[in-house]
Amino acid sequence: MRIVNDIAVELATYLEEDVADVVMNLSSPPRPEMGDVAFPCFRLAKRFRKSPQDIANDLKTRFETEERDAAVELLAKIERIETAGGYLNFFIKRDYLARSIIRESIEGGDRPGTSSEGEGKTVIVEYSSPNIAKPFHVGHGFSTFLGEAVANLYEYGGYNVERFNHLGDYGTQFGKLIVAWKLWGDADALQESPIDELTRIYVKFHDVAENNPELENEARAAFGRLEQGGKDELALWQQFRDVSLREFNRIYERLGIHFDNTNGESFYSPMIPAVVDELKEKNLLIESEGAQVVDLEEFGLNPCLILKSDGSTIYASRDIASILYRKREYEFYKNIYVVGIPQKNHFNQVFAVMEKMGFPNPESNMHVAFGTVKFADGAFSTRTGNVIILEDLLDTSVAKTRAIIEENNPTMESVEIDDIAEKIGVGAVRYTFLRNGRERDIVFSWEDVLDFEGESAPYLLYTVTRCASLERRAPESLLERVQQIGDEELELLVSDDEQELLKEISRFPASVISARESHEPSVMMRQVMTIARAFNAFYHNAHILRAENEALGAARLVLAQVVGRTISAGLRIAGIEPVERM
Ligand code: ARG
Repeated sequence: MRIVNDIAVELATYLEEDVADVVMNLSSPPRPEMGDVAFPCFRLAKRFRKSPQDIANDLKTRFETEERDAAVELLAKIERIETAGGYLNFFIKRDYLARSIIRESIEGGDRPGTSSEGEGKTVIVEYSSPNIAKPFHVGHGFSTFLGEAVANLYEYGGYNVERFNHLGDYGTQFGKLIVAWKLWGDADALQESPIDELTRIYVKFHDVAENNPELENEARAAFGRLEQGGKDELALWQQFRDVSLREFNRIYERLGIHFDNTNGESFYSPMIPAVVDELKEKNLLIESEGAQVVDLEEFGLNPCLILKSDGSTIYASRDIASILYRKREYEFYKNIYVVGIPQKNHFNQVFAVMEKMGFPNPESNMHVAFGTVKFADGAFSTRTGNVIILEDLLDTSVAKTRAIIEENNPTMESVEIDDIAEKIGVGAVRYTFLRNGRERDIVFSWEDVLDFEGESAPYLLYTVTRCASLERRAPESLLERVQQIGDEELELLVSDDEQELLKEISRFPASVISARESHEPSVMMRQVMTIARAFNAFYHNAHILRAENEALGAARLVLAQVVGRTISAGLRIAGIEPVERM
């Protein structure tokens, strides 16, 4: 709300403070009887040697008596100012509040609250990052959904976003796969169901190696040859990579996700010798039991392993090489890793090594961590032990959604149901990964995920279709009036329900900023949910198409449009595509 800024400007003038500092201190009170904007005076007590309550009273008087034009103009938009317990509470005139919030929202179009704060800044968001030859499980799903939302939040703020997928396509496990393939590989099965076949021979390798330790040596040798560029090994590795990517790309397509850079770990491997040289030159590399490590005691961390005793490289060295590469090629403002909590220590080590190397702004590298996915009893049983494959989860969600839609819409055509069920089923899963603080574990239950009345994507999507259907059903004359809605009509939205809803709409842009700054899409998701709840309360209590008079009906329909656009914008940031009907 622009008026919040106007209030801050006045306060800043009176207090001789920065507007930005004042804005930070303004809050929206939890209850309507406490006004629309509150300014706490506690921190000023020391400076003015007065009680917060007295300061609040002084400020109130100053507001009411100030004669500068800007102040008089502002005061005309304010119903009254009250002081209570050290707070200065502003009550904005209801008609002004209605008109200004709707006008601001209309200005924002389909992207209310979008900004250009990030202009000229490149942010790398690395997410998904599955491993070649291994299943794309729900953990990678978490990274994928969260990462896409974080990337979208930055884009919404005008940043240049580079989406990275750091494929796990390198490491000693490829030596094992190569040996296992030569012993037991089935070419047909590999084409048919690549990940299943590669998992099968990988598991078999471990079973057999238990009694034949020489297999492990063979695998190490095979990886060594791969690192040296051995032809056979490279060809097999390339094949495993290709067939796995084919699987992963199918998932990305289904989810509408596109990466700008899919360089895997293998891409960075050749850059490691240069990293080792640089570490040596800076006297950071020390030998420990034959391996090369960087000591991180001053950070309270274990040493970071750079080269194993046999000279082969590891995960962390590839990450260090990749940060240097990314800086060189992208000159990033931020380099963000959306990876699970268990890798916290790994990233702390890698970032600490960067700091020791004298990397500029080491804090521009960030680990955005997330929790694990658990399943309520019976929510999911798998064919693959304890690993839950993301595709199985999505398919089940879509099938369950389809059954619900079919029941609710007996006459809907099958193709339309397919389309809607896919969007809602996938959206419901995505929402579940974004609704709570990301470091919290997710306890998955279908009852919640597909609760059309609960805290779910279906509820939000349904609210959007409700707004759209109002527009579809509205008579021509009303739509015409909506087209050229005037301030005097918007100023009719003064009921408690309408004002409550308007205020929630006005909080959407701030929730987007806060979600971006904390890398917590849940902050924005919660605001979108609050808007939906407020809209449905309004919808049940007020007539829109049959309002008391046409002017009010038109204003309410505009309000519904604004709600639909705001919720849709939030859903799109979350990667959830709204549907026409359901
Ligand atoms: N492939 C890894 C895994 O599945 C995640 C990679 C995370 N990114 C990174 N730059 N280390 O656990």
